[in-house]
Amino acid sequence: MSSLSPKCLNEPGEWQYFLSHVQYESKDIALDTFHSMEKLGRSCWLDVRMDERDEAAMKEGIKNSNIIIVIMSPAYFTRPFCVKELEWAVEYEIPIQVIIDVQLKGEIGNIIGRCPADKAYLKGIGNINFTEVSRANPTFWKASIDSILKAKPKVLTNAGTVKEPNVTNAIIKPRKRITVERAANKYRIERIFNENEIDKDDIKILENESLGTGGFGEVFKAKRAGRICAAKVISTGGLNEMQQRDMFKKFQKEFALMCSTNTCQRVIRVFGVVLQIPGKLVLVMEYAENGSLRKYLNRQAAIDKRLEPSLLQSIIYDIAYGMKELCKKGVHHRDLKADNVLLDHDMIAKVSDFVSSIV
Ligand SMILES: Nc1ncnc2c1ncn2[C@@H]1O[C@H](COP(=O)(O)OP(=O)(O)O)[C@@H](O)[C@H]1O
Ligand SMILES: [Mg+2]
Repeated sequence: MSSLSPKCLNEPGEWQYFLSHVQYESKDIALDTFHSMEKLGRSCWLDVRMDERDEAAMKEGIKNSNIIIVIMSPAYFTRPFCVKELEWAVEYEIPIQVIIDVQLKGEIGNIIGRCPADKAYLKGIGNINFTEVSRANPTFWKASIDSILKAKPKVLTNAGTVKEPNVTNAIIKPRKRITVERAANKYRIERIFNENEIDKDDIKILENESLGTGGFGEVFKAKRAGRICAAKVISTGGLNEMQQRDMFKKFQKEFALMCSTNTCQRVIRVFGVVLQIPGKLVLVMEYAENGSLRKYLNRQAAIDKRLEPSLLQSIIYDIAYGMKELCKKGVHHRDLKADNVLLDHDMIAKVSDFVSSIV
């Protein structure tokens, strides 16, 4: 753990996280978060030069961050700048995550109670799950960072309620300043993408045969060259330009990642992308006839049936095998759940949905 001030902060660009905190109370947590995130290749906006504060710069910082991490502490709501940062996060609908030193967890009610009366809607922050962190030792800190990475940020509204962000979590945009390695990777992704485009006339998406919906898109049955496949359709119609760009990058990333796992036995195979349908991005993949494991379990529960032990065993084996294959390819799935495990016509389970995955 480090408490050194970072040499260079907040170059122009975009940041994945904005760290909002009261310096004299939370400086160490803020700096350790900054350094740990940097090590993981994630960028943070962090203000350490309080006396040189420039309101416009802070506002830009919030506006250009994907997530604002509020490091909650006793004086947070008594600092006008912290309150302003929260107000901007509400105004620009930037998803918020809250972290708190584990030693302060008993004080959350009092802390929120200090919110200025004329900004009572900011008390809605209490509806977001607070992630407890501890700098007591490196192991606790590592666990804290893992929890921060897993936490689901929420958008706070000016009515004091919270809602899901438009573009889901893991909204990980690269910085504008990219290294040579990142540029090469970007080129690789773009090439894979262009080489696998499917003409929109070569596929028929059966729009009345929805297979399921997730946080990212809706999946339909589709026909291509006489064979049934599945088409994950992501609508970009209602999004603003920046959100569309983000969505496109996520889509590109999911596809490139799936291409790299196409030889895996227990991972859903991808066939290509359709890019010519206005307002839509389509990822074409193998069709899993028996749908998601979640739906299968629900269907069984509805008829009061338990899973056959042999089937249960084979599903567990398949998932473990699929995860091992991903691990060999260096892929961290990061969203393994029954919704993201699909069952083919032979009830072979395959891991799917790489929206949240990283290599
Ligand atoms: N290849 C497929 N075959 C059959 N059903 C699928 C397929 N892919 C997805 N689904 C269904 O659609 C749902 C959402 O797909 P998913 O890829 O997880 O989307 P999201 O990224 O939005 O969560 C799944 O839970 C599953 O029920
Ligand atoms: Mg899913």
